[in-house]
Amino acid sequence: MAKRRPLIAGNWKMFKTCEESVESAQKLKTLVADVDAADIMIAPTFTSLFPVHGVVKGSRIGLGAQNLHWQKEGAFTGEISCDMLVSAGCRYVIVGHSERRQFFGETDESVNRKIRAAVSAGLLPVFCIGETEAQRESGETFSVLDKQVRDGLKDFVFDAPAGVVVAYEPVWAIGTGKTATREQAQEAHAYIRSLLETLFGKPVADAVRILYGGSVKPDNVKALMEMPDVDGALVGGASLDPETFSKLVFFND
Ligand code: 13P
Repeated sequence: MAKRRPLIAGNWKMFKTCEESVESAQKLKTLVADVDAADIMIAPTFTSLFPVHGVVKGSRIGLGAQNLHWQKEGAFTGEISCDMLVSAGCRYVIVGHSERRQFFGETDESVNRKIRAAVSAGLLPVFCIGETEAQRESGETFSVLDKQVRDGLKDFVFDAPAGVVVAYEPVWAIGTGKTATREQAQEAHAYIRSLLETLFGKPVADAVRILYGGSVKPDNVKALMEMPDVDGALVGGASLDPETFSKLVFFND
């Protein structure tokens, strides 16, 4: 089948004030104005979402959030609902990032609730999974991915075959400069895709985009993107500078 449409996604994590976010988004918008071959997402912090929406609306850049709460509203101090994200202009939301799992008590169960709430609200979740270095070294990579996918997508019903984006982010490759080799990425992505086929059938497995994340840079993106099951990148550090990020968007040039 034809390769899935690439998605190059920037996770700005806890970087950039409102002013800095707007300035970066403006620069990026100009730099990627002619992009045709890939979808683009940027995920600023919550406070920057609406101001950045003002910059990117109507452009090729889709807006994403970095987290959400699954309840519609209520007494949940410090949380943000899907409807709030939609009204701030979001189309995407990152769910289950390893930093949230590691530092903020995110579990496969909360990830599952968040994915289902996001899709019900019309958001496209970017569902993050990945093993730690210790898990890879002890040969548990596939069993970790298996559990994260099964539990994260438990009772999930795909209304559209491409209704979720999966991001494979090996924890040992995030922010370390240690990128997975493209063979390691392909092996994990192929495993995830075959699991999706087992759980949800071939149309879903063929349609779901699986992004690689972990020290993606302009000098390694092309090699990664050449692999058959790598459909895009979820980028942290290299997404913060618009020039650098635009080079990732133009990975084929
Ligand atoms: P780096 O690109 O900085 O390694 O971060 C990856 C990541 O966590 C994206 O979500």
